[in-house]
Amino acid sequence: MVDRLFSDPGLAELYDTLCAGPLRAARDDFGFYLPYVMSASTVLDIGCGTGELLHMARESGHTGRLCGLDPAEAMLGQARRRRPDVEWVLGEPGSAGWQGEFELVVMTGHAFQVFVEDEQLRSSLAAIRTALTADGRFAFETRNPAARAWEHWVPENEVELADPRGGVLRSRHEAEPPVGDTVTFRQTLTGPRWDVPQSSVSTLRFLGEGELSSFLSEAGLTAAEQFGDWDGRPLTDDSPEIITIAVRS
Ligand SMILES: C[S@@+](CC[C@H](N)C(=O)[O-])C[C@H]1O[C@@H](n2cnc3c(N)ncnc32)[C@H](O)[C@@H]1O
Repeated sequence: MVDRLFSDPGLAELYDTLCAGPLRAARDDFGFYLPYVMSASTVLDIGCGTGELLHMARESGHTGRLCGLDPAEAMLGQARRRRPDVEWVLGEPGSAGWQGEFELVVMTGHAFQVFVEDEQLRSSLAAIRTALTADGRFAFETRNPAARAWEHWVPENEVELADPRGGVLRSRHEAEPPVGDTVTFRQTLTGPRWDVPQSSVSTLRFLGEGELSSFLSEAGLTAAEQFGDWDGRPLTDDSPEIITIAVRS
């Protein structure tokens, strides 16, 4: 089941505002991925959400096939409204049955971490491999568990954002202690547009580099390149991110 943050149209409408944060910052991850997208003529963005990366690709002059896949209709609704010249498909990696069609499959915004169960992860990776052309690439990131990002997901780190409709939105996270390699957390939004706080509970998986490599290998994929952060620095034990460019083995 998709988290309420993505399935509720009123919250999905705020997704890009929440990602941009209080400083309305450009997303470093998109700066990293955009050149990969621009150099591939066929691109599938899995867990595309509001489709910001593919919007950027079209705006930057991409003329090939761009396809965004997401199981949350509310997020795709945001994507479709802005950009009808991209294929927006409702579903999960296995549901569309694409075979050998995409030079690049990308997953951004830590969408890869939604694959919490082993079977879900295995079947998703198998479907991604099948969707790739013979020399296609799968580019994605997962937060490095060693960096313990969830320790910052505490109410004291609440942020204030300007609501596009006016007024101030407040967003806070409260993470539960990890269970195995998963972390469950609640995101709560308050602001003048609601009478009561709006909450969404999510669970994400934090795979280490070794386990990730095993799942990739089992699916017939190999990490061709790995980076530790969005400036392209090498992956180290304490890098915040495990950014992987995988190819078919
Ligand atoms: C944190 S958002 C990332 C959105 C976008 N990729 C970005 O970078 O902003 C995670 C997205 O994953 C989607 N999602 C949830 N479960 C999924 C699944 N099983 N397969 C693919 N996408 C999924 C959600 O609906 C949501 O749009």
